[in-house]
Amino acid sequence: MLALDLDSATREALMTRILFCRELGLTELYSRPVDPALLAKLTVEPEQSPSLRAPSTCHPERSAAESKDPRLVLPGERVEIQDPTAALQLIRDEIGECTRCPLHQGRHKIVFGDGDPAARLMFVGEGPGADEDAQGLPFVGKAGQLLNNMISAMGLKREEVYIANVVKCRPPGNRVPEQIEGDTCAPFLFRQIDVIRPQVLVALGATAATWLLGSRQPLAGLRGRVHSVRGTQLIVTYHPAYLLRDPRQKKEAWADLQIAMKELKLKLPSKG
Ligand code: URA
Repeated sequence: MLALDLDSATREALMTRILFCRELGLTELYSRPVDPALLAKLTVEPEQSPSLRAPSTCHPERSAAESKDPRLVLPGERVEIQDPTAALQLIRDEIGECTRCPLHQGRHKIVFGDGDPAARLMFVGEGPGADEDAQGLPFVGKAGQLLNNMISAMGLKREEVYIANVVKCRPPGNRVPEQIEGDTCAPFLFRQIDVIRPQVLVALGATAATWLLGSRQPLAGLRGRVHSVRGTQLIVTYHPAYLLRDPRQKKEAWADLQIAMKELKLKLPSKG
């Protein structure tokens, strides 16, 4: 239990956050040193829950000396994950057999995400379609085949990237997720991103861009540049399903993917 001069709500929120981070196997990553006067007041009673793990690693960008400083992990701060596979499983466990939003009513399988938990590149789509709902895996239908081709064109294998969606249950008739559905489900996506910590995120279509950026903007204005989301670079491009309907835009999408490749320092195809 923490003994701090904080109001009970703040203390509880802080405690919840710390417990969550530690259960994920997080170790630190803290941006600012804690005031020594405040630290002096902080006491941690020895009997911790058995699931808590003591911080043992540090953010690679921080010096060893810095990493010895006791700090608190606060929401939105970058943290080092010891075991991203286990951390993702914890998030999946928390989702459980979700009934948090109306989408669960028509769902067959929750589509959590797929790929390398330590991927440098992560794609975010809108929501599962019929094939994904049947198999419990993202982008396994026709749009998925095109996404696989896009990934291959980047010189990568599908297993090397991570793929997830804004909503984890299929919207009826593949409609765009409602605000409440996206708002309910997106926090789990954000936590997946925080665990995977990809160097580059690619938003596939307007729905992914809207929830990742937190505001609805025309896709045209978002493409062609690098955004920053949760400490990760974000590239916005067309959804593969849209590219299947209008293949002329594939050239544009390829230009977007080349921005991602440049950020990832992947070899770009030679021109001509
Ligand atoms: N479209 C999406 O947005 N996500 C999928 O997983 C499949 C199709």
